[in-house]
Amino acid sequence: MHNLDAAGHVRGESQYLDDIPVQRGTLHAAVFGSPLAHGVLDGLSLQAARRAPGVVRILTAEDIPGENQIGGIVPDEPLLAEGHVHFQGQPVALVLAETEAQARAAVQLIEADITPLPVITDPRVAQAQGELIVPPRTFRLGDPATAWADCAHVIEGTADSGGQEHLYIETQGAYAYPTDGGGVRVHSSTQGPTAVQRHTARVLGTGMHKVEVDVVRLGGGFGGKEDQATTWGALAALAAYVLKKPVKLVLPRHDDLRMTGKRHPYSSDFKLGLSADLQLLAYEVTFYQNAGAAADLSPAVLERTLFHACNTYFIPNVRATAYSCRTNLPPNTAFRGFGGPQGMFVIESAIAQAAEQLGVPAYEIQRRNLLQDGQVFPYGQRVEACNAGLSWQTAEQKFDLAGWQAEVDAFNARNATKKRGLAVMPICFGISFTKTAMNQARALVHIYTDGSVGISTGAVEMGQGVNTKMIQVAARTLGINASRVRLEATNTTRVANTSPSAASATADLNGKAVEMACRELRTRLLRHAAEDLQMNYEGLDIHDEQVLAAGTPAETNWEKLVSTAYWKRVSLTENAHYATPDLWFDASQEKGHPFAYHVYGTAVVQATVDAVRGTYDVDAVRLVHDFGQSFTPGIDRGQIEGGLVQGLGWMTMEELIYNADGRLLSNALSTYKVPDLYSVPAVLDVEFLETPGHPNAILRAKAVGEPPLMYGLGGYFAIRNAVRAFRPDVRPAFSAPITPEKVLTSLYAPAGVSAAAPAAQHAPTAAS
Ligand code: MTE
Ligand code: HPA
Ligand code: MOS
Repeated sequence: MHNLDAAGHVRGESQYLDDIPVQRGTLHAAVFGSPLAHGVLDGLSLQAARRAPGVVRILTAEDIPGENQIGGIVPDEPLLAEGHVHFQGQPVALVLAETEAQARAAVQLIEADITPLPVITDPRVAQAQGELIVPPRTFRLGDPATAWADCAHVIEGTADSGGQEHLYIETQGAYAYPTDGGGVRVHSSTQGPTAVQRHTARVLGTGMHKVEVDVVRLGGGFGGKEDQATTWGALAALAAYVLKKPVKLVLPRHDDLRMTGKRHPYSSDFKLGLSADLQLLAYEVTFYQNAGAAADLSPAVLERTLFHACNTYFIPNVRATAYSCRTNLPPNTAFRGFGGPQGMFVIESAIAQAAEQLGVPAYEIQRRNLLQDGQVFPYGQRVEACNAGLSWQTAEQKFDLAGWQAEVDAFNARNATKKRGLAVMPICFGISFTKTAMNQARALVHIYTDGSVGISTGAVEMGQGVNTKMIQVAARTLGINASRVRLEATNTTRVANTSPSAASATADLNGKAVEMACRELRTRLLRHAAEDLQMNYEGLDIHDEQVLAAGTPAETNWEKLVSTAYWKRVSLTENAHYATPDLWFDASQEKGHPFAYHVYGTAVVQATVDAVRGTYDVDAVRLVHDFGQSFTPGIDRGQIEGGLVQGLGWMTMEELIYNADGRLLSNALSTYKVPDLYSVPAVLDVEFLETPGHPNAILRAKAVGEPPLMYGLGGYFAIRNAVRAFRPDVRPAFSAPITPEKVLTSLYAPAGVSAAAPAAQHAPTAAS
């Protein structure tokens, strides 16, 4: 089945938040954000803005009828600043005017009286000063302290990875209006309608039942709207509630870039021990997560970094510690991979450094240490149905790894100013929300009397194709054509208490609920048919809209069946609840069974560096991915391609730069470079690994949303290998992204330098 949104998107007919026709009298909102990153908020000068043309009202923290609090995991984030400001761009006041232009113009007239306080932008500095969001966490397996003695080689180092802007095409926004009976309806561009509902109710001082949140689709989320759509939804709702008027708030791109959090930058220290035959024996790692000024989802992201600290390798002795460090940047948040990629970058850096010191290819170390069934992850879950080895071997054979490396070596021997590098990037990603309770979903299915079907779930369509998947699950389960099925907008009054669409688990969780509801309806209808037509229920089936009795067409079809059932007063509606079985986690021991299953795959990446200019191309990515039994191969391939390119962007060109005052310097697309069509590898080969899938995956099709981003790490190491083909004596610092600037300084580092310092624009770390 094709992505059902494709035609609408291409024709420009798909509706986004900004396309909702506004009601008469709608006010437009613009946000005044803090000009300083840290300080005491002594006062606001609002007179000039109040007198500006079209301005109706300016709201501040004092106007909040309920609690000024939107913190999800830790209650540490006011909706509007009060007393202090903690990051540049933190919302302080909301201007309501008759037009958007008037609201934005008035914001320029506001002045804040702020007594500056010291600004921290570096997580290691924050940690040294005790500025932690939550207490540190440590995952342990075996005992590295005693294992070092058994190691033939021990290497130590540091690895830093930068943040990443989500750059969803649709910026953050909401449209809210009062409803009959004192409630408010909020159209929000959010991955988490229930989060918007819960926090809006809290801010308004009312019950969740008075707040309805509705989402048609997002123009991209990528994690940036899992928690951080709440601010704008709650602000629009606050204004609508206080002024009793419809209010629209859509962030201009520039505000979105500087006011919202991003992927967490990490700085990390590692120590890796290997045996003489390259077995990984011990690994110690300390992660310093740059959380920004409030918790947001940082504690959960931190946890997933620990879960993925060893990527797809078995290491018998592990100690992984992670600090969530409070700095004066916008609160960093979920981003595809949710901390996993940051953890995986460090183990891959450690392996690369070991390979360089020992003079062996990194893939020799990688290959010898792949996970196998029966082993155990550091968090206690046993390795089962593991495809690490299978995906590696398939890639090695299909892409002739040895021959490919020989070609690269020959190319490098022939060319003086162009150098190639090859890297293998195997991945393992756990599927489930790491917070066990979040692994639940519901679906509401109506069959109408004409045989058409309407489905509501908690799933939010953000481009990943989940609506198409839900329709396909329903059509298959009911035995009818997909064209009969419509997926409704995601709405908190139809499906309540939803988890955000995140963790790659949306199709699994909501799809299982759809499957359960449809199965129940199918059973009910066939029982009715058996009674109505005096047939044996056993052996009845619906296939291609025809009712079959023991395989042969019976006297009725879907439409007749539905109609007669209605007249016999059989319920044509079903609501189902699904909770992923067998999940648990004991945080006091840091052990459990947090994931429904794991997704595996192996990518081989080739890059070519221009050794005169420092520029490069990632020219080929060929990968083998474990989709299980994909039932939407086109959509799933799209997720691989998009995720891969997004990962390559993070690793190579997307460089977020905040200055020491906490000001975002890379605050426009002229200074923050993202991948474009020309960044897509010329060769992009996606091979489907033949596997049975997993019973916890919807129709045995494994989750696909986040895992492919991590293939992008291969781009970093391929470029690094190409640099070292030109300068074998240089060992560039592990500092992502590997921008052309860093490549050039490594290519021409002074002789004898063993490690080029990372470009200094990042918040300097203790290590650099
Ligand atoms: N694909 C598109 N086109 N747009 C998105 O915003 N978000 C990613 C991924 N793929 C995203 C996307 C992220 S961060 C996640 S968690 C998953 O999709 C969420 O959807 P799923 O659970 O249905 O895979
Ligand atoms: N992934 C994404 N979002 C989440 C998670 C997770 O594991 N846990 C809580 N929110
Ligand atoms: Mo995805 S980072 O779990 O929204």
